[in-house]
Amino acid sequence: MKALVVAGARPNFMKVAPILRALADGGHEGVLVHTGQHYDSQMSDAFFRDLNLPDPDFHLEVGSASHAVQTARVMEAFEPVLREVRPDWVVVVGDVNSTLACALVAAKLKEELGCRVAHVEAGLRANDWRMPEEVNRVLTDRLSDALLIPSRDAEANLAREGIDPARIVFVGNVMIDTLLSQLPKARELDMPGRLGLERGNYVLSTLHRPSNVDDPASLASVLGALAEVSIEMSVVLPIHPRTRKNALAFGLRGSLEALTVIEPVGYREMISLTEGAAVVLTDSGGVQEETTVLGVPCVTLREQTERPVTVTEGTNRMVPWPLTREGVLNAWREALAKGRGAGRVRVPEGWDGRAGERVVSALQGLKQAVGTFVSESGDVPTRP
Ligand code: UD1
Ligand code: UDP
Repeated sequence: MKALVVAGARPNFMKVAPILRALADGGHEGVLVHTGQHYDSQMSDAFFRDLNLPDPDFHLEVGSASHAVQTARVMEAFEPVLREVRPDWVVVVGDVNSTLACALVAAKLKEELGCRVAHVEAGLRANDWRMPEEVNRVLTDRLSDALLIPSRDAEANLAREGIDPARIVFVGNVMIDTLLSQLPKARELDMPGRLGLERGNYVLSTLHRPSNVDDPASLASVLGALAEVSIEMSVVLPIHPRTRKNALAFGLRGSLEALTVIEPVGYREMISLTEGAAVVLTDSGGVQEETTVLGVPCVTLREQTERPVTVTEGTNRMVPWPLTREGVLNAWREALAKGRGAGRVRVPEGWDGRAGERVVSALQGLKQAVGTFVSESGDVPTRP
């Protein structure tokens, strides 16, 4: 089996690493395409090093642009690659613009090239169309032949949208494969110590959602809340380039000065910081999942989450919305008072370090099913 695997932005690298490994272990061919949506060394190369990822077979170098231009650039550059590689499967992960762009190209070419599209992390829904990721998720799922879901709630979301259950396979969470495999090396790093922070006595924060960082009043409010927390406990903020750019453009340099602002960190450094934190305050999707597995209290600085199991089974809680300084402070205090592991019912099903293997088994099984299924009349049925 030949699988073309797409990665473009920071959270994609942790997701493709276990899939590529499982493909290689199973004697399959994995071809890695990096779209170049993220390109700074600390947003891309650092993860190739930490996660032992092979150099991409193709680099599309699309860079930053508006949603339309970035998506279109990925599509234009990806089409000839797909024609050249002619894989059995195009595997896209997550919900970034590169995910949708490549799924769309593959969906249009699949009859001609005989390939199929698999979406890893299918079925997550925030039920908020203002989020660019929600548009990407819903459309990618609609275009995909295989919907590989990380949690059972995704099944109900997809059923509501009329997706054929035969295309849905529960595989668990590939992000956690990477977390569990990198944890020993992350622990050796002792990032809190290196930054002069006391383990269990600091807050780790990450921010990059447009709803928090693209509007001056919202960014002022969330940074102001973090500055208030920092009066009582150090707050370390590995700052996303989008957030840094906006904070400077909106004249919020002063709010940043109250915090320990550092460049975005590599994966192992991030996990070391996450594990040592008293509480994590974040709007990241992946960080909600990692804190749940590590048992670290997390407050999600968003109106809703597409990862509800992190709240119902894990250590995550939602900040009261609309976000206010008082709301953040109260949520932080409550999370701190409850302490590590509090509220965690269990590590969610399938978040066990073996999701990459299940992705590859699913692709093999579905490939056979697709390849051998012929209608009673002997015609190959039209794809949904
Ligand atoms: C993207 C994803 C988001 C994901 C996030 C992970 C979409 C629509 N959004 O958001 O779902 O959670 O990645 O981090 O795909 N920039 C740099 N260097 C880089 C990359 C970006 O400076 O290496 C700056 C540029 O100014 C760019 C901005 O960050 O315009 C935003 O980058 P972009 O990839 O468009 O969106 P993210 O906010 O990173
Ligand atoms: N992460 C990292 N360094 C950072 C910030 C985040 O390694 O400075 C990791 C984090 O641990 C998780 C992933 O990046 O594995 C999440 O990516 P991000 O928050 O950018 O995107 P999202 O998950 O929200 O789409």
